[in-house]
Amino acid sequence: MNMRSIQIASTLLLVVLLLAGCERFPMDSVQHGYRGTGMVQVYNPRILETKDALNTAPAALPAASPDGPKAKDLYKNVQVLGDLSGGEFVRLMTAMTNWVSPQEGCVYCHNPANFAEDTKYTKVVARKMIQMTRSINSDYKQHVAETGVTCYTCHRGNPVPTQVWFTPPAQNKGADFIGDLAGQNTPGALVNLSSLPTDPLTPYLLEDKPIRVNGTAALPSGNRQSIKQAEWTYGLMTHMSTSLGVNCTYCHNTRSFSSWENSPPQRVTAYYGIRMARDLNNNYMTPLTEIFPDNRKGASGDVAKVSCATCHQGAFKPLYGYSMVKDHPELAATP
Ligand code: HEC
Ligand code: HEC
Ligand code: HEC
Ligand code: HEC
Repeated sequence: MNMRSIQIASTLLLVVLLLAGCERFPMDSVQHGYRGTGMVQVYNPRILETKDALNTAPAALPAASPDGPKAKDLYKNVQVLGDLSGGEFVRLMTAMTNWVSPQEGCVYCHNPANFAEDTKYTKVVARKMIQMTRSINSDYKQHVAETGVTCYTCHRGNPVPTQVWFTPPAQNKGADFIGDLAGQNTPGALVNLSSLPTDPLTPYLLEDKPIRVNGTAALPSGNRQSIKQAEWTYGLMTHMSTSLGVNCTYCHNTRSFSSWENSPPQRVTAYYGIRMARDLNNNYMTPLTEIFPDNRKGASGDVAKVSCATCHQGAFKPLYGYSMVKDHPELAATP
């Protein structure tokens, strides 16, 4: 090889290396707003293909008769499902087993010698989860509409949902030479491996910090939002985009991110989703902290919590909008 071909070969190698971080063409683009406003969604068809299996709902069990004695009269310790008929009750137990603990079976929550006792923590958690599922379906229609959720939406056949998060412990600034990382500057999985704050969920999906970048009045005194606040907000936005597998323009018109009038309706749905996730974490997950064993807790001793990804798992609607609740009306409303 002469000098020239070595140069060409090394340039080509450099180009290949640079492009290795990019996704391969061709991409699909779908218009998602008025013509000429740049509201386009870019999808990678090869990534979409891998999502099909994950987003296919399992077949529903045959319906059970609502007649006959109620579960509260048939069994000893039924605190929330008492109004179901015996048939409906056993059908739901079977469905819950398929959705949450298909490998382990009924014994994941029950002592087979005595189904009534509450000795396994999983049973106590499951009872709260039934109440949580009913609350999602009845109190958050602004988000989940009539599609609703079942245990499967989050669990997908796993006792611990694959997409949960914990509040990381504060950085120990005592004896390290790295300095104050301010909770950022290390590639974080929740923010798509960017250098944004690695935990943008505690301030917004647990606490109620303002999600804001733009000022609401003219400069110089108008914008009281700090650069830090902007970074955390972008962290949350990145989490929301990756959780749904969409670009920012799915919810925003980029000529003004803050303007609600210019935003697609999905942004309003997302607004309620933020409030819903916060409510679930504060009113259902956190109160279960003492019930969970230590090996289920995070490094700060907190419980696993719900984010957008817990339900969505990369799809714009969980299970691409398939409603499993229509086959389980007992989970649709709080009686
Ligand atoms: C994911 C946890 C979970 C799984 C798996 C599960 N159950 Fe249950 N089971 C519960 C909860 C929670 C209750 C209490 C419901 C209530 O308080 O309304 C319960 C209650 C019962 C009761 C009533 C016992 C009594 O006398 O009070 C029976 C019977 C029962 N389950 C049968 C089954 C069977 C059979 C299976 C397997 C096909 C099963 N369960 C799988 C969580 C579970
Ligand atoms: C909005 C999402 C969501 C829904 C819906 C949901 N769960 Fe959960 N579930 C969670 C999260 C988050 C955890 C905490 C993970 C862990 O156990 O550390 C959890 C934990 C559990 C556990 C404890 C598992 C373990 O091994 O620690 C059980 C049992 C359970 N859920 C049952 C149910 C049942 C039954 C339903 C439906 C009635 C349900 N869940 C619906 C999110 C959900
Ligand atoms: C799934 C919908 C959705 C996606 C995707 C999304 N956003 Fe947002 N965004 C919202 C909602 C909802 C709010 C308002 C939150 C609130 O006030 O509670 C918001 C707020 C903002 C704000 C604050 C505006 C202000 O008033 O200060 C900015 C900036 C922003 N988003 C940028 C982005 C960027 C950049 C992306 C892509 C990385 C993105 N968003 C992706 C829904 C979304
Ligand atoms: C408890 C499960 C659950 C959680 C958690 C959740 N979602 Fe959803 N989301 C749903 C369901 C179910 C739908 C489908 C509703 C429908 O069919 O209209 C949905 C729909 C949406 C839509 C409308 C999509 C469209 O094309 O119309 C957006 C946007 C959205 N979610 C954003 C979010 C964001 C952002 C978060 C986190 C802050 C979030 N969701 C958390 C269950 C959830």
